Amino acid sequence: MNEMTSPKTGTVKALPDAQRVTEVRHWTDRLFSFRVTRPASLRFRSGEFVMIGLLKEDGKPLLRAYSIASPAWDDSLEFYSIKVPDGPLTSRLQHIEVGDEIILRPKPVGTLVHDALLPGKRLWFFSTGTGIAPFASLLREPQTYEDYDEIILTHTCRDVAELEYGRQLIEDLRADEMMRELLGDALDKLRYYPTTTREESPKMGRVTDLLRSGAIFDDLGIDRGMNPEADRAMVCGSIGLNTDLKEILEGYGLREGANSNPAEYVVEKAFVG
Ligand code: A2P
Repeated sequence: MNEMTSPKTGTVKALPDAQRVTEVRHWTDRLFSFRVTRPASLRFRSGEFVMIGLLKEDGKPLLRAYSIASPAWDDSLEFYSIKVPDGPLTSRLQHIEVGDEIILRPKPVGTLVHDALLPGKRLWFFSTGTGIAPFASLLREPQTYEDYDEIILTHTCRDVAELEYGRQLIEDLRADEMMRELLGDALDKLRYYPTTTREESPKMGRVTDLLRSGAIFDDLGIDRGMNPEADRAMVCGSIGLNTDLKEILEGYGLREGANSNPAEYVVEKAFVG
């Protein structure tokens, strides 16, 4: 049992699932990331999510599903979150500081996992906003590079500042000595395709529009379209993105998979409140 000690984030109360905050980073006035200690008993597959949260005034937990942004081998847990001024959880969670405690239920679940896809050659990670989190985990998972010849991460955000978390993730990954040692040239399989929709940047537009027009394939120098034999996709973003991409992927002949029934693509909603 731990004590919930932060005056900012909740009443002092004994918590069975408390984890201590070890790092907080504010990326923009809408986005922040943080790390917490990892319970010794927690096992998860890269790409899964857990319930995390804070205690409410009445002493009951307020929990939401958050993708774990760190890989399964890491000894701490990273999360990437939106800040919603009137969001029940994030209006308070955004104020956490190093040393505070949050609640973490150690029961990981989710479909954005390698097990839910059939073997393929090219893996697409489609994300908007904080939907990049599960892919931040999977991109640091060696199996991603072992199982595929090519990995393409797309990240669409409103403006350039909101791309920064992903940009640094890719930069750090490419410079990471341990990953280099482990994977060697396999790291070069990774392609990064950031786009913005509301601010000028080298590549503008929703990824859905770029797929429909074929521009994304031309930009990446690959044949237009996807092939259910070779292409696999994971999607994580707003409901709109998920719905639109499902239609596009089904149009290419890809079918939605699940842990119990692996197929060609999987989808999960990024938490937004
Ligand atoms: P847009 O600016 O055109 O709405 P948000 O911050 O609201 O979650 O959005 C993150 C990014 O996702 C924005 O760039 C937004 O574009 C984009 N987006 C929203 N809906 C869709 C959709 N249905 N398909 C593709 N991208 C979307």
